[in-house]
Amino acid sequence: MSRALTVSRAAQLVGVSRAVLQRMIGAGELAQFDGLVQIDDLLRAFPQASLEDSGALEKVARIREEAFGRRVRERVLPSPEVLSQRLFAQSQELAEMRRHLQAYHALVAEAIERLSAQPAPAAGHTRAWLEQGLARVLGSEADNELDAMTDMLKVVYANVVVRPSGREFLVEGNDSILQAGLKAGLALNYGCNGGNCGLCKARIVSGEVRPILHADYPMSAAERAQGYVLLCTHTALGDLVIETLEAASPADIPEQQLTAKVRAIAPLGPDTLLLHLQAPRSARLRFLAGQGATLGLADAQGDLQASWPIASCPCDDRNLHFHIARDDTDALAQQLFAGRVAVGDALNVRGPHGDFVLGRDTLPRAAFLACDTGFAPVRSLIEHAIAAESVERFGLYWLATRPDGHYLANQCEAWAAAFDEFDYAALADADPVRGAQALALRAARECDPLATRFFVAGVQAFVDAAARCLLEAGVPAGALRANVC
Ligand code: FES
Repeated sequence: MSRALTVSRAAQLVGVSRAVLQRMIGAGELAQFDGLVQIDDLLRAFPQASLEDSGALEKVARIREEAFGRRVRERVLPSPEVLSQRLFAQSQELAEMRRHLQAYHALVAEAIERLSAQPAPAAGHTRAWLEQGLARVLGSEADNELDAMTDMLKVVYANVVVRPSGREFLVEGNDSILQAGLKAGLALNYGCNGGNCGLCKARIVSGEVRPILHADYPMSAAERAQGYVLLCTHTALGDLVIETLEAASPADIPEQQLTAKVRAIAPLGPDTLLLHLQAPRSARLRFLAGQGATLGLADAQGDLQASWPIASCPCDDRNLHFHIARDDTDALAQQLFAGRVAVGDALNVRGPHGDFVLGRDTLPRAAFLACDTGFAPVRSLIEHAIAAESVERFGLYWLATRPDGHYLANQCEAWAAAFDEFDYAALADADPVRGAQALALRAARECDPLATRFFVAGVQAFVDAAARCLLEAGVPAGALRANVC
């Protein structure tokens, strides 16, 4: 009988994104029952060549070749305790299956023998039919290879299904369930990430977990009895189904205040700086990709404040990146460019704010139009969409109105080279309105206006001109998100 896999694990095996499999399921090209995909159906949809291209196969081969070396052990594999639990569960499952298989095999062999003793031709036909069936049950080489890969992946990763959203993610290495969910782009509820606040509390519907961090939060006996655990202090021993809510929109994320340290200030170009802040382990900023924060610096001249979009992904919530343009009207930017803020200095962070976010549904296509440092929130959105596999096809259109306007062109070229479904176009024009019109016309021509969500970020003149052009090209107003920054 064909084995069933979760969509995440099936996608990992055949080396495509979860979004691609979900689209195939939606289009009726791949059957799904109860959230699971049969190995037989997967093999029909993906020929052996695809399996060989799979990143998962390579990863498992690497683990085997490197003989569980230190680097692999630390980064990829869970702790020895978790590994032994998963291996134990696998051996139990395997022993059970072997027992069943042997019993069925013996039964079929006996039936064939009895039929041989009976007169032909009816018995001969039935015997041939049974022999063919037996060969089919024993499976093809590809079936067996996929089965072995599935078993190996079950040891290395645990698959988590979230209810009621139905979203899935994999827990790798010694990650907590919360860390793994955030890395996969889920907007799970949490606060301190250290076992103190209780906000990451979730119910384990099925599967086993193991504590990896001490928790001070006082969970009641009743909660414990109902299966509640803190996702930030537990990892998965095997596949899990959990019940918890995710943020559906910016309104679900409360405003937070914290103090973060400057980790680095580095030039991205003559007129653009990267400001890298690191939040304390126990007080990180929970935000959605594309949102911004207000930074404050208390110095001799009083409190300086500025609101900037966050350029990094919420999947790494401790490290906040901002792209700062030289601006004579912005006192905090001036302090940064003058070198009056140093590594180790503390900045107040308040946020998040803004609704320039992707939304929770999977997008077949997303087009991002950015002008100069309008690229910052776009970078956050793209990194998040890649982590969450929530966009199938990307179009990135970046206008530079000043000489260092394309300050991270290498990153965009790397995305375009790494992903088949990623188009990147750069344009230089000192006039943001003329540039916006050119980019918007090109984006509307290359991306189906009725099947694409458009994200536009930059100075007011750029955003207004690009939005006007896109609407005139037939983009519905509901498919347009804008961020003046
Ligand atoms: S996030 Fe605070 S206890 Fe888990």
